[in-house]
Amino acid sequence: MFSFFGKKDKENDNKKKGLSNTLGIDLGTLNTVVAKPSGDKFDLYKIPSVVAVKKEDPSYVLAVGEEAKAMLGRTPEDIVAVRPLRQGVIESIAQAESLLVYSMEKGSGDAMNTIDRIVVGIPGDASEVEKKAVEDIGTKSGASYVLVISEGLAAAIGAGLPIAEASGTMVIDIGAGSSDIVVISLGGITDIETIRSGGDDIDANIVERVKELYKVEIGLHEAENAKIEVGMVHSHSDADPIQTMVIGKSIETNKPEKVEIDSKLVADAAEPIITELIVSLSHVLERMSPELISGIYNRTIVVGGTSQLNGLKERIFEEVGVPVEISEDPMTVVAKGTAIVAAEPRALEPEVRLKAMK
Ligand SMILES: Nc1ncnc2c1ncn2[C@@H]1O[C@H](COP(=O)(O)OP(=O)(O)OP(=O)(O)O)[C@@H](O)[C@H]1O
Ligand SMILES: [Mg+2]
Repeated sequence: MFSFFGKKDKENDNKKKGLSNTLGIDLGTLNTVVAKPSGDKFDLYKIPSVVAVKKEDPSYVLAVGEEAKAMLGRTPEDIVAVRPLRQGVIESIAQAESLLVYSMEKGSGDAMNTIDRIVVGIPGDASEVEKKAVEDIGTKSGASYVLVISEGLAAAIGAGLPIAEASGTMVIDIGAGSSDIVVISLGGITDIETIRSGGDDIDANIVERVKELYKVEIGLHEAENAKIEVGMVHSHSDADPIQTMVIGKSIETNKPEKVEIDSKLVADAAEPIITELIVSLSHVLERMSPELISGIYNRTIVVGGTSQLNGLKERIFEEVGVPVEISEDPMTVVAKGTAIVAAEPRALEPEVRLKAMK
């Protein structure tokens, strides 16, 4: 689930000199979050996972983060703004590299050459090639020590849940492009299910529904904002719907037109993703031993931006009987977990032991 890279000698030298600059990075589809340990807190930097590239040479990066995000949908002809990750998977190594380098610059206050160690969280089902790509990017960018760990494990550590015990912990991470269900016991991942959908798909479904219902085309960004404002998922105790207004373009007249989006519309748009999640959860539970079931009953946390949809906690309990807690910091908890490991790699020691036993 992890691997070490880099020049140990330099690290030892720095340690002797008392230098220790460590960063944790959650490389996400929509947001990349950098956490830098600072006393017993973290300095956090949220960077949109967007890069602006030349159209004829997509490996030529012109802008990263906020600046590139502002260009989405409104770039001149020869420039495109793109996301280096799609559905949690790296689409372009060159673009991911510029995003990672930019994140390291931000996190280190432009003192990248002082970074000893970075820990990067990537999806639990990432391939060896993807893992290796992230490690290579990190070392190439100047970190003397790069560790890649599963986002699920990082989330559990960030949330302060026990990972070393045999009794088990479960993390459900519902992000923008992908969602993971991860079961952890004895410091290692004992089961994982990944679905390649998340909040992005809800936004796309909202756009589709509005088009069908009102013959009005709205932007993805407007759909996302409406989702965040009034979003919910269906449950037995559906809350009273609330509404928001969005301006789109009438398909018939091409004129701007106001449409009302309510919680029920968002819940309908979210339903295919929620159903997929519930099916995956059922598979995980089907495979789980009674011992682990008893552990995760008291220790399941839901993280990721999409976990904030109203009614999700209730719906999961209704469907699979597992009481869950929604994280208080769903969009930064993975980064915090990676930063904890960066500051103290021994946090993972039980996992090392477990690997050695295999
Ligand atoms: N209050 C909210 N209610 C519902 N959804 C939200 C809310 N806030 C953010 N989101 C959604 O959360 C998603 C982003 O979450 P997160 O930052 O965890 O994703 P990510 O880590 O970039 O993606 P991934 O893990 O899939 O690579 C987006 O789809 C966003 O619209
Ligand atoms: Mg994520």
